[in-house]
Amino acid sequence: MDVLDAIIGRASTRAFLDRPVSRGILHKILDTARWAPSGVNSQPWQVCVVTGESKQRISDSIVAAMEAGHKPNPDYRYYTKEFPELYRERQVACGKALYGALGIQREDKQRRKEQWMKNYHGFGAPAEIFIFIESIMEKGSWLDMGMFVQNIMLAARGCGVETCPQAALAEFPDIVRNELKIDSSRHLICGIAVGYADFTDPVNQYRTERESVDQFTEWFD
Ligand SMILES: Cc1cc2nc3c(=O)[nH]c(=O)nc-3n(C[C@H](O)[C@H](O)[C@H](O)COP(=O)(O)O)c2cc1C
Repeated sequence: MDVLDAIIGRASTRAFLDRPVSRGILHKILDTARWAPSGVNSQPWQVCVVTGESKQRISDSIVAAMEAGHKPNPDYRYYTKEFPELYRERQVACGKALYGALGIQREDKQRRKEQWMKNYHGFGAPAEIFIFIESIMEKGSWLDMGMFVQNIMLAARGCGVETCPQAALAEFPDIVRNELKIDSSRHLICGIAVGYADFTDPVNQYRTERESVDQFTEWFD
């Protein structure tokens, strides 16, 4: 696949076919993604690939925590508390596009919740890749992590599978660490759902928008 097509054609995929992704393909994705650049070639990523019963146990435990009224307790804050209005507008547009594609009205809290809860099952993907970093690492290393995560998503496309990066899977990091026998010195950044896309599902039939280059670029000669 052409690299530009891989980048432009990637979209967060929220419905997957009931078809496993082989260990060989999952290995190939990571074997490709590991070529991401990182400061001083530190390669700060640590990964757990979760399928089958292990994946099911994590999903069940997170859902049980939610239903018991436990509040998410992520290892890091994703968004600033003072989210600037411009970004807030984009967030609203993002939600509208998702729920619009599914015909879910703004006031239909029940269906919105049901859709949200699908996060905790990796949207039905057969595999989830959990991404960890040592808690002592600084922002620069987090930059490296972003490149690694994007590499995973692009490499997946090269292998014919699609992905959804999911901060939702990092909302209860202790549950994930407990299942994967990982101690709290490793912080959970996100999960990535990996599977064969169900392109017939309406949730996979819309695209989010992007600002044009001129909106975010200044040129100096
Ligand atoms: C680090 C990260 C975490 C995300 N977490 C979630 C998530 O928990 N659930 C979800 O449905 N989408 C999640 N997304 C997907 C974004 O909503 C999506 O990337 C954005 O709307 C742009 O759409 P696109 O990925 O289809 O281009 C996440 C994206 C990133 C990069």
